[in-house]
Amino acid sequence: MRIDGKAVLITGASEGIGAACVESFRRRGARLSLVARSEEKLKQVGGAGAVITAGDITLPETRETAVARTLERHGTIDIVVNNAGVGLYSPSWRASIDETRRMYELNFFAPLALIQLVVPYMRANKSGMIVNVGSVAGKMTLPWFTLYSTTKFALGSLTSGLRMELRNDGIQTMVVCPGYVKTRFQTNVIDGHPPDRLLRGRKFAITAEQCAEAIARGVERDARTVVTPAYSWIYIALHRLFPSLIDAQLAAIYHGESAAK
Ligand SMILES: NC(=O)c1ccc[n+]([C@@H]2O[C@H](COP(=O)([O-])OP(=O)(O)OC[C@H]3O[C@@H](n4cnc5c(N)ncnc54)[C@H](OP(=O)(O)O)[C@@H]3O)[C@@H](O)[C@H]2O)c1
Repeated sequence: MRIDGKAVLITGASEGIGAACVESFRRRGARLSLVARSEEKLKQVGGAGAVITAGDITLPETRETAVARTLERHGTIDIVVNNAGVGLYSPSWRASIDETRRMYELNFFAPLALIQLVVPYMRANKSGMIVNVGSVAGKMTLPWFTLYSTTKFALGSLTSGLRMELRNDGIQTMVVCPGYVKTRFQTNVIDGHPPDRLLRGRKFAITAEQCAEAIARGVERDARTVVTPAYSWIYIALHRLFPSLIDAQLAAIYHGESAAK
């Protein structure tokens, strides 16, 4: 889909990947509508032209306000980028159920509810694109991130199902699966922290700007799935081909064991 002139609603746009998406879509001529809790940061990121809705996207009133304001200013919603998300590093066998529900509210139910609000307008236009920001953790379960992985698997499955449900309505869906991206995501988590070896891998992480460019290019070429950096496909493929071997390596990283063990 061409981005120039399109009305694009981005959640989690105040920092990280979402804020970088604002730049990537703006450069391509998008008309923007941004959501996050921090009004101050949204104003900085959005500049003069963007519609801004400051609020918690897990609340129905925030979603309804964001959609209403976008329609009022731009007359339509062409692209939705469900980007807001949060991590939880607690082991699944002892994680707080309340915290797990909180993560699901943001990572799964908020995108689903926003999709339910915008799809009627997209169906009426016979055009639209739904972009859901998942994770490589939504392609292969990471043991330090088991419950987070479940939310991203759910989001990936939703993206696939919607594509088939809406195939006669001119609406496309795309899931984005970033690997490690240099943002404050690791410190913004609900609870817990990643294994040391993973943190040491930060030097190999891509920037939020690289991730956002991959997302915008994915929209332009009507991609179903964007994995970024692209070499993460190798891990995903290896995991499918040799699940026991890769599970053992991931478990070793999780338990801080040496690769040779
Ligand atoms: N960074 C990575 O390594 C990585 C890898 C794979 C996938 N991802 C995914 O990429 C997406 C963006 O991650 P990121 O790295 O950019 O994270 P981030 O730097 O922590 O940014 C998260 C964004 O979401 C917003 N947000 C959080 N809770 C919200 C709520 N309840 N309502 C509205 N907005 C909320 C935050 O703004 P406010 O605080 O102002 O609300 C912020 O703009 C997430 O879905 C994440 O799961 C990240």
